[in-house]
Amino acid sequence: MSVTTAIVRPLVGSQKYLSKLFDKLLPEKFTLDGNRDFERSFVPSHIRDNVTVYDVGGGKSPLIGIDEKRRRNLTLIGLDVDPDELSRAPEDTYDETICADISSYQGRQDADLLICRAVLEHVADVEGAFRSIHSILKPGGLALVFTPSGNAMYARLNRMLPEKTKKALLFGVSPETRAKQGFRAYYDKCTPRDFRKLARDNGFVIEEERFYFISSYFSCFFPAYLLWRCWILLGCLMVRHQAAETFSVALRKPE
Ligand SMILES: C[S@@+](CC[C@H](N)C(=O)[O-])C[C@H]1O[C@@H](n2cnc3c(N)ncnc32)[C@H](O)[C@@H]1O
Repeated sequence: MSVTTAIVRPLVGSQKYLSKLFDKLLPEKFTLDGNRDFERSFVPSHIRDNVTVYDVGGGKSPLIGIDEKRRRNLTLIGLDVDPDELSRAPEDTYDETICADISSYQGRQDADLLICRAVLEHVADVEGAFRSIHSILKPGGLALVFTPSGNAMYARLNRMLPEKTKKALLFGVSPETRAKQGFRAYYDKCTPRDFRKLARDNGFVIEEERFYFISSYFSCFFPAYLLWRCWILLGCLMVRHQAAETFSVALRKPE
């Protein structure tokens, strides 16, 4: 048995348990997981049957699965910068794949709905991505975007630490993140305030915004988690949604 299995894993497990226990003391607003809410509530509340949906940066894990796609009679198009990611998506999920960079892609104005989950933090030019999203949508189409905020503590650390150190830390304490994480992150204009400006500048109407105040990055060391929780509570009092860890927005391209 390795030292990691014998000592580190149980230790990390106990810290995560304490962090979870502490969160039980907080109002629900502070414990709603953004990624889960986006998938289970935000997107379902906006989706309609018989429409064309783009999953931008959907890669190997498109948000809409094949059963739902068939049940709703959707045409699903996967757009991703990495052909390897696209090729690893479950068979027949995408009706079409487009290998392109979302910061420079010129769209065909054929999307009724566009989903973009956990992608824009990896894009070096988010202004370009907003222009591209606008060009993909039909007039009247809707973009649903979920992103970690560049204001979050982990995002600040992410920008400061060298790539190798970050990956070693992340995969060391949370090996389950290896499959989904590890893409280079820039957090270019990835805050709620930046998004409002980009939406306005690109002619979108913001139909809905949701802000989330939890992430699991510090839960592997309870003292750090406690400090970070205090930081979040204080931030929420002082700067409100700018203190969010992650957020979702629904952007309408006017008719
Ligand atoms: C963290 S994964 C998210 C995958 C999926 N959306 C999900 O929620 O599980 C980020 C994805 O964005 C893609 N990506 C990164 N930069 C991109 C860009 N500039 N244009 C298009 N896709 C990009 C990556 O190839 C990868 O598939």
